[in-house]
Amino acid sequence: MSMTKAMRRDWDGRARKNALHYIASWQQEWDLDAFLASGEEDYQRLVLPVLQRCGISASGKAMVELGCGVGRMTSSFARRHQRVLALDISAEMLSRARQIHTEGNNVLWVRVDGVDLACLASGSVDFVFSYLVLQHLPNKKLAFDYIQEMLRILRPGGAFLFQFNGSHKPTMNLRGRLAWSVVDALWSSKLVRLSRATASILGLDPATAGRSWRGAAIDPDKISELVRSKSGEIREMSGINTPMTWCCGIKRFFDLAETSRTPSGKERRLWHVGRVI
Ligand SMILES: C[S@@+](CC[C@H](N)C(=O)[O-])C[C@H]1O[C@@H](n2cnc3c(N)ncnc32)[C@H](O)[C@@H]1O
Repeated sequence: MSMTKAMRRDWDGRARKNALHYIASWQQEWDLDAFLASGEEDYQRLVLPVLQRCGISASGKAMVELGCGVGRMTSSFARRHQRVLALDISAEMLSRARQIHTEGNNVLWVRVDGVDLACLASGSVDFVFSYLVLQHLPNKKLAFDYIQEMLRILRPGGAFLFQFNGSHKPTMNLRGRLAWSVVDALWSSKLVRLSRATASILGLDPATAGRSWRGAAIDPDKISELVRSKSGEIREMSGINTPMTWCCGIKRFFDLAETSRTPSGKERRLWHVGRVI
């Protein structure tokens, strides 16, 4: 089974079991209004202040939300952008999103294959956003490929803001780590039923068995290197070495050739003009 199929199977299953909980897992049962309110709260707390600090406009013509789930935060974006392309690997999540969000017609809900953004042309988007998604990707390559794709689809001067797990520190005790490592090893060996059964026997949630839940942690330096090599200019990286590492910046207008000469004052001023969105 391909990685796309494995991720899709798991996320479709989580959506069927309890979509709101597996999206916002800090609460077991959600009232829909409270769940959607948490999306706007996260927008006000995690998105707006960063964009303001980085001198990036919070509105625009076209944006992409990668891993939108049932659209917890999508309405916050749809109020500010002319068009939102809300992407997710799970058809079950997207069908719930369509049922919940019946008002407004500027959001397009689209299922993706979970490994690239081939449905989008290069340079076609003003802003790309992703939260609580990269942290669930089963390996680092998937996350690197997605970040590369986010930069490809941005127009020069377009902005990105995404979160990933930038911490390799264990978040549970040795017993918990051992239990999950057995469950995850079975999942990785494609013994999914056995992996889930083992989780149940150990008193763990079988829906979170596997690497599509406990995804790869990534060294923030590697993300910076990748972003810069793909014409990205990082304006803020916060929460470094924590599970909530955020990376915000813009796609450069120009890629200057390597030069042995220090740029003159006038060249630096011109360069600065290019930084203004
Ligand atoms: C924890 S939820 C977060 C949803 C949303 N970002 C939010 O904050 O409300 C993770 C979402 O990412 C989606 N997802 C997981 N792996 C994905 C992938 N490889 N490509 C696109 N979406 C993915 C899942 O289907 C799920 O809807």
